[in-house]
Amino acid sequence: MRLEFASYVRKPTARVPEGYRLHRYRPGEEGDWIQLLNESREFGVWNTGKLRSMILDSLIPNSGVFISDSKALIACAACCSVSSFLPYATANYALVLPEHRGRGLGLIAMAAVIDSARDAGFPGVVLQTDDFRIPAVKTHLKLGFRPDITIRPATATRWSAVLAATGNLGKEGMV
Ligand SMILES: CC(C)(COP(=O)(O)OP(=O)(O)OC[C@H]1O[C@@H](n2cnc3c(N)ncnc32)[C@H](O)[C@@H]1OP(=O)(O)O)[C@@H](O)C(=O)NCCC(=O)NCCS
Repeated sequence: MRLEFASYVRKPTARVPEGYRLHRYRPGEEGDWIQLLNESREFGVWNTGKLRSMILDSLIPNSGVFISDSKALIACAACCSVSSFLPYATANYALVLPEHRGRGLGLIAMAAVIDSARDAGFPGVVLQTDDFRIPAVKTHLKLGFRPDITIRPATATRWSAVLAATGNLGKEGMV
């Protein structure tokens, strides 16, 4: 079961640390993206068909965001136009490989896709996450996302537990 976030977001201001480069997906980079998603083991097994159906077919222009070190992609995030969440854009598949975590790269990648969605004219960004993804929830809260309990009020109790795990219980409101 998943949880919903609502829009909207603060303007994020983090800078890419030295040794890393932020760039955008361009056609021809599908293999590198698939390799990163598979290496992370976060979102199941990926191939060309899954990348196309889950991301590329609905990708908002300029909204496939990569971060590389000197050798390869080490982080990514995307923002898509998903009919069930329109008029909002849907952020998804953000990850940083474990050895590169702790530097704020996830927040930087997410901030970049949010900016792209805004540039593309979407009035806000939503995303879904899982209860166990505490680092991700911390990142999303920093970007201004708020737990959305309007769709499933029963998730309020679960949200309380998740917010407590992030150290944000009582500080961050739900919508
Ligand atoms: C979410 C993610 C991209 C963030 O990467 P990152 O920018 O390197 O951030 P970190 O993983 O270092 O963690 C973010 C915050 O969570 C904190 N954190 C990490 N593990 C934690 C834990 N077990 N409990 C509580 N807080 C934790 C970190 O200290 C950090 O807090 P800070 O910003 O106050 O220092 C990365 O953790 C990741 O790839 N996770 C797996 C994939 C995933 O869940 N994607 C999101 C799908 S919705």
